[in-house]
Amino acid sequence: MKMLHLALILLSLSDVLTQDSDYGVKYADDQICAVRGFSVSIPCSYYYPTSNPIQVKQKLWCSMNSNTDKCQNPPYVYNSASNTKSDFEFTGDDKSNCTLLIHNVQFNYSGEYRFRFITDVTGGMLTGDPGVTLQVTDLKVSLIRLSGNGTFKPEDSLNLKCDVNCTQSSSQFVWSKNNELLPESGAVLHFPALTLRDSGNYTCTWKTNRTSGSETFSLQVEGGNLKLQRKMRVKVKRKQRRVHAELQEQDDAVIYSAVNI
Ligand SMILES: *[C@@H]1O[C@H](CO)[C@@H](O)[C@H](O)[C@H]1NC(C)=O
Ligand SMILES: *[C@@H]1O[C@H](CO)[C@@H](O)[C@H](O)[C@H]1NC(C)=O
Ligand SMILES: *[C@@H]1O[C@H](CO)[C@@H](O)[C@H](O)[C@H]1NC(C)=O
Ligand SMILES: *[C@@H]1O[C@H](CO)[C@@H](O)[C@H](O)[C@H]1NC(C)=O
Ligand SMILES: *[C@@H]1O[C@H](CO)[C@@H](O)[C@H](O)[C@H]1NC(C)=O
Ligand SMILES: *[C@@H]1O[C@H](CO)[C@@H](O)[C@H](O)[C@H]1NC(C)=O
Repeated sequence: MKMLHLALILLSLSDVLTQDSDYGVKYADDQICAVRGFSVSIPCSYYYPTSNPIQVKQKLWCSMNSNTDKCQNPPYVYNSASNTKSDFEFTGDDKSNCTLLIHNVQFNYSGEYRFRFITDVTGGMLTGDPGVTLQVTDLKVSLIRLSGNGTFKPEDSLNLKCDVNCTQSSSQFVWSKNNELLPESGAVLHFPALTLRDSGNYTCTWKTNRTSGSETFSLQVEGGNLKLQRKMRVKVKRKQRRVHAELQEQDDAVIYSAVNI
């Protein structure tokens, strides 16, 4: 009797195990970084037994900032059963793709996201746990002087550095000046000998396979006749940026300023 009982338990355990491996959610990343105000895609795929004609009835995405029970109950950031429009757009399908595209990310979108799907089979549902952690950050531009001190002089050298406070395996930086692409790549834009012609609007763009974000700022190099006046004024200012055609209220922030007396 005891033997039979044990055998039954084992049998039901193996049922659960089989079911678990037949249903699944796969995320391409554990962690994804995004720049505030831009869009980011969270690649995701899901599977279930294909032996029977199983239909997927409902697809859900949850933010674990607001959801407390493994996405089994609301709130959801996406629910295929209701067509409310939000920053959270499902770009997957009814078969196997559960990719989520998040628009206009804000700092409070940082956190873990999980996908859940429900099929027309009794008990045929699953939440992909653990999910993907989104980290939202700003790009930071800083000026690093490589020569000279105090007042700037022509021919001083400096670097502009673009930083993203986030660990991301493969990412790249692209620079442009007055909307024209510069040949330099990498986090640092090097100015070997500063001249008035270096003034302009610069954009640092950070790109990964999932997202891209940019920051535009003006570099002002001022001074009189370079031959006569050996003093210069250098100012780096972050510019207002447009996000989704809406102007985000953002003060022009002075990143660096060195003014001669
Ligand atoms: C899933 O959908 C996204 C967005 O539509 C697409 O970019 C991606 O290539 C798809 N993934 C697969 C494996 O087909
Ligand atoms: C983020 O904060 C805004 C209010 O500033 C709120 O309306 C929104 O629901 C929050 N979003 C998330 C995902 O927490
Ligand atoms: C500035 O540079 C000059 C010459 O390189 C040096 O003599 C001076 O000590 C420096 N001043 C400061 C404040 O570092
Ligand atoms: C980088 O981000 C982490 C958390 O995401 C924060 O604790 C830290 O202060 C940030 N560092 C800088 C230099 O902003
Ligand atoms: C930089 O941008 C400002 C507008 O934000 C514009 O007035 C100015 O002409 C631009 N400078 C250059 C060199 O394109
Ligand atoms: C991500 O992009 C890099 C180039 O930036 C490429 O080499 C790599 O294969 C891409 N990875 C994936 C998973 O798409």
